[in-house]
Amino acid sequence: MIEAINLIKKYGDYTAVNNVNINIKKGELFGLLGPNGAGKSTIVSMISSVLIPDSGEIKIDQKTLKGNEREIKSIIGVVPQELALYETLNTKDNLRFFGSLYGLKGKKLNKRVEEVIDLIGLREKANQPVEEYSGGMKRRVNIGIALMHNPQIIILDEPTVGIDPQSRNHILKTIKRLNKEKGITVIYTSHYMEEVEYLCNRIGIIDYGKLIALGTKEELKNRTDACDVLQITYSNVDEEIVHKIENIQGVEKVAILKQSVKILINPKKRSAIDIVDELKKLGITITSFSYQEVNLETIFLQLTGKTLRD
Ligand SMILES: Nc1ncnc2c1ncn2[C@@H]1O[C@H](COP(=O)(O)OP(=O)(O)O)[C@@H](O)[C@H]1O
Ligand SMILES: [Mg+2]
Repeated sequence: MIEAINLIKKYGDYTAVNNVNINIKKGELFGLLGPNGAGKSTIVSMISSVLIPDSGEIKIDQKTLKGNEREIKSIIGVVPQELALYETLNTKDNLRFFGSLYGLKGKKLNKRVEEVIDLIGLREKANQPVEEYSGGMKRRVNIGIALMHNPQIIILDEPTVGIDPQSRNHILKTIKRLNKEKGITVIYTSHYMEEVEYLCNRIGIIDYGKLIALGTKEELKNRTDACDVLQITYSNVDEEIVHKIENIQGVEKVAILKQSVKILINPKKRSAIDIVDELKKLGITITSFSYQEVNLETIFLQLTGKTLRD
């Protein structure tokens, strides 16, 4: 349903999106996961025709976006990273205003406003100016605005950053529901691994403008080289020991943090217990350790050598 083919976007000399290929099927909940500055917003802005790619092509429903922007925009709802609403208006009037921009009027508009208010769970506050809302509630109004014209596709760009946990849960549940009950195709960008893991069927991992992995959760976790992560804190840190750890059989990579190291282990080759034994043999005094089975965070660490929160 959504295809990005060899997409490139530069800001001056800097290539923010570097030859990205994505194919999203109808009804899919697609997650774009990557750290700040990875290029997520630039990609979704091109898909929602806010930015024009330098090269490459975008197709929606098998139609080329270029030249068909108006028609294609009518089936997409966009929730941008920055809030876009009228603070002095209440929820109802925001929804009415943006709904009318989409051509809704009369009874149809009134009906849709009421439906959307329930969908975003703001019935009690619907007549209060948006400026009196919490950040999370404002974000929910923005989602409501994007839903007014009953889009087939909804694009949400980091909708849960800096908001209260209650609104966050409401947003995640609403997206899941829209996808399940209405079959809406979703593109969801985030740098929160847990959200993408909870929400999405297929995931693209992006770093420095490049798509470095793409697949279902299971596909990503079952990569033959997928690593678990053993994080240890030890007293006698020095470069030489790190080098020795790297040479232990079954250790794929060592990432050095301030007070500890993360040791990436291929569980298909060697168990964590084996590795801990080897560390003891090297004379390392472990003061604490934790073990993390392969997940999106460990995959990201393995692919890039850094954590998503760096
Ligand atoms: N208008 C702009 N002008 C110059 N550089 C930009 C502009 N917008 C984004 N960038 C740069 O492009 C890169 C990707 O940005 P962005 O797509 O916003 O990443 P993300 O959404 O993943 O945080 C970043 O390095 C950012 O600083
Ligand atoms: Mg962004």
